[in-house]
Amino acid sequence: MTAEQAAGQQSMAAMAGKLAGRHIVIGVTGSIAAYKAVDIVSRLKKCGADVHVILTREAAEFVTPLTFREISGQPVAMDMWAPVQEFHVEHIALAKLADLVLVAPATANILAKAANGIADDMLSTTLLATKAPVWFAPAMNTNMYEHAATQHNMEILRTRGSHIIEPAAGHLACATSGKGRLPEPAVLVEAVVQAMTAGQPLKGRKVLVTAGGTIEPIDPVRFIGNHATGRMGYAVAAEAAARGAEVVLVSGPAELPAPAGVRVVRIQTAREMHEAVLREYADTDLVVKSAAVADYRPVHVAAQKIKKSEDGLTLHLTRNPDILYELGKKKTHQVLVGFAAETQDVESYARAKLAKKNLDFIVANDVSQADAGFGTETNRVTICGADGSVERYPLMSKRELAGIILDHAQQCLPGMSAK
Ligand code: PMT
Repeated sequence: MTAEQAAGQQSMAAMAGKLAGRHIVIGVTGSIAAYKAVDIVSRLKKCGADVHVILTREAAEFVTPLTFREISGQPVAMDMWAPVQEFHVEHIALAKLADLVLVAPATANILAKAANGIADDMLSTTLLATKAPVWFAPAMNTNMYEHAATQHNMEILRTRGSHIIEPAAGHLACATSGKGRLPEPAVLVEAVVQAMTAGQPLKGRKVLVTAGGTIEPIDPVRFIGNHATGRMGYAVAAEAAARGAEVVLVSGPAELPAPAGVRVVRIQTAREMHEAVLREYADTDLVVKSAAVADYRPVHVAAQKIKKSEDGLTLHLTRNPDILYELGKKKTHQVLVGFAAETQDVESYARAKLAKKNLDFIVANDVSQADAGFGTETNRVTICGADGSVERYPLMSKRELAGIILDHAQQCLPGMSAK
């Protein structure tokens, strides 16, 4: 079982029953990713939700209504003019019943129809009739996704309050590679559960998170790096998105799926992270800097692979920018949260960094422990505040810790108290 699958199973177990009594309408449109909607329905059912499926005619070419009927345990709505099965006026009844409408996968066509108020089938009519929050998970060929018309339609939908889940990048069914894949069902369902169970205390706030490690090239095949996997930062980003924030995640190389609803900026080196973070900083409300940034990089990067010799090899290193220090100097209204990865005198080193970098609080991380720090699913930290407070926390999952960090951060944000 991969780490991703194990994490998915853990979070499924944690989410069981969380949507009991909630009604979700899923619109499935004509994309090859329609088969993933079967898994989404099944997972939402396991969370206790009552799930109703609306299939477009095109979606039914990919997956039969019978499959969705069996998985959802409900009649599948498709045809406006079919004999009424359960509801008086089916599209109005489903629109009213829904606590949330999720269109997954959403084709360019349904985005265009929804943006323009076209109601010519069961799904588009339901979208026009519902007052429930509507989420679209676009999935399509990269060129279609990037087309100005599709981008404009998504902007219209966002402005009207719909939530657009950014597609993942990767290999597409049309034998190309790029942005346009439907995110994994586990990721989508977790985002839905979070949104339906949590409040949205960070709505209207922009949160910038850094995650993973930076890598500093030595030559075309070697680099200086560290053991960060991104788990801590991805957990903070997912939690911030679940709390309604606009989230930008500046990520070093990591093998984790992008959390739903999060804009991911991928970088490799400290200087690239520096540039990406500064680009986003001015209108950010909260920065959580969990990345392990390389303090040094080689002065010269060899253009060709360095050949072995009998002698040793001396690398001359130079300092990288201290990104968080610079953010502290440029701070206007931003709440700044740092991490300190230490192996000894953890709290005193963390306090020194807190003061030097002008932070609101710092998460002191003793990375000498086997179950905490780099690469683990769990963490054990102490949070030191600029007000002199010290709170020591027991071992917990990184996702739980992300919640605690954001609870602290919310207390520091102007105009807010704890969740
Ligand atoms: O990704 P995981 O596998 O889940 O691991 C999580 C983690 C161990 C990486 C994380 O919990 C953690 O401790 N991150 C901070 C690691 C670190 O580099 O700490 P530091 O003490 O060297 O840096 C202090 C702070 O300054 C950090 O917030 C760091 O992002 C920032 N910094 C450091 C150097 C630099 N050049 N620029 C920076 O902004």
